[in-house]
Amino acid sequence: IKRVTTHTVQKMKRDGVKISMLTAYDYSMARIFDDAGIDVILVGDSASNVMAGHETTLPITLDQMIYHASSVVRAAKRSFVVVDLPFGSYQGNSKEALQSAIRIMKETGAHGIKIEGGEEIIESVKRIISAGIPVMGHLGLTPQSIYKFGTYAVRATAEAEAEKLIKDSQLLEEAGAFAIVLEKIPALLGKRAAETLNIPTIGIGAGKYVDGQVLVMHDMLGINKEFKPRFLRRYLELYDTILGATRSYIEDVKSNDFPNESEQY
Ligand code: KIV
Ligand code: NA
Repeated sequence: IKRVTTHTVQKMKRDGVKISMLTAYDYSMARIFDDAGIDVILVGDSASNVMAGHETTLPITLDQMIYHASSVVRAAKRSFVVVDLPFGSYQGNSKEALQSAIRIMKETGAHGIKIEGGEEIIESVKRIISAGIPVMGHLGLTPQSIYKFGTYAVRATAEAEAEKLIKDSQLLEEAGAFAIVLEKIPALLGKRAAETLNIPTIGIGAGKYVDGQVLVMHDMLGINKEFKPRFLRRYLELYDTILGATRSYIEDVKSNDFPNESEQY
């Protein structure tokens, strides 16, 4: 099988083929996504929420991201694996950002990193890229800045923020980013970004005109029972399925139905 590369995803944009991306945090799920043919697997810092149970993405550490990423990389035969630089591992200065990116590449075998922000982090982006590490940008609702925003509402609905987003996306492209995630922005702004840029835009809550889509696996599989934002399409209701299976197991154990004759030595 031929590995998806930065060139593959950029060619997909040129050819009008949409890019598919999902998050994964462990070997077993990444294996299924890779077998299914997902183009890009993101080891997102959303692991902080869905794996560790934190309220925000801020607490997860670089060491914890490296643990998740190395598990995912072992499963990915075809998919391109991108890993989030977690909060606190790059904001200090571009040297620190490069060191964090190098640790991810060296200790996990991942194929690239993702970093939140535009102009503020452009030096770091350039430095990481000049070390030969592919960088994916992330603009719009960047969850590491949630306390600055104060809300998970749609971003860039006002003119000034929309213009800044377009400018930041151009800066990222000029710096050499190979793609950009756009999170929770109006569909028409997503369209404008996709048309303005040569590199692919991958949306989550950014409408249908961007070059690809990404969802958090727990959301699209319906493992997060209560999380139902407008942008989310749920492909399973796994919370209910797993709840039902667990109840059946408990019942079978209590009633001494499990194990039966054929299930014992
Ligand atoms: O951490 C994450 O899951 C992400 C996606 C929502 C893009 O950054
Ligand atoms: Na993230």
